[in-house]
Amino acid sequence: MTIAKKIEATLSESSWIRKMFEEGARLRAEHGVANVYDFSLGNPNLKPPKNFRNSLIDIANSSVEGNHAYMPNVGFPYVRKSVAAYVSVEQQAEVSEKEIIMTCGAAGALNVIFKTILDPGDEVITPSPYFVEYKFYADNHGGILKTVPTKPDFSLNINAISSAINNKTKAVLINSPNNPTGQIYSKESLIELGTVLILQGKYTAKKV
Ligand SMILES: Cc1ncc(COP(=O)(O)O)c(C=O)c1O
Repeated sequence: MTIAKKIEATLSESSWIRKMFEEGARLRAEHGVANVYDFSLGNPNLKPPKNFRNSLIDIANSSVEGNHAYMPNVGFPYVRKSVAAYVSVEQQAEVSEKEIIMTCGAAGALNVIFKTILDPGDEVITPSPYFVEYKFYADNHGGILKTVPTKPDFSLNINAISSAINNKTKAVLINSPNNPTGQIYSKESLIELGTVLILQGKYTAKKV
């Protein structure tokens, strides 16, 4: 069976991540689990709490009508409400349930967002080093990932971001704590970034 040329190219570029993971498994088998530190994939080494596992079992066993049926595309209203309340406290910024959409993971969320906002040739700016899959998420929807340097301590280089913005810019993609650098962006740098985006006409803030 033939596969699309774009997927062929993507596979050859991305396969090193999986190779690193597989090499880790090979080395563990050769030298013993205790002797190999695997930093390849972000697999949690903590087990989910007992309450969480029990809740999953209860839900799977539940015979409540419609429990295993389709849900609204954006997720159940009570779940969105509960997540909004949690995020509002965690981030100390009010988020309403209307601003919450349930997705299958961050990759699913970013692909939905990019599909929604990108026209072919539009640009997504991200500080480098960056999570390597970001290039593919943008490319999946005709977008181009444009990388900009960070400061030496991996904090945001607002000048570099500001200079990279042009009329094709549709998003500035940051994640904090950052993967792979671990840098947590300061409140001041996020406010500065928000101000730059407002001044460049890329963002309308309800509260900064
Ligand atoms: C920064 C970042 N973005 C996106 C993803 C993809 O996340 P998910 O596995 O939830 O789709 C990861 C996963 O490690 C990540 O670290």
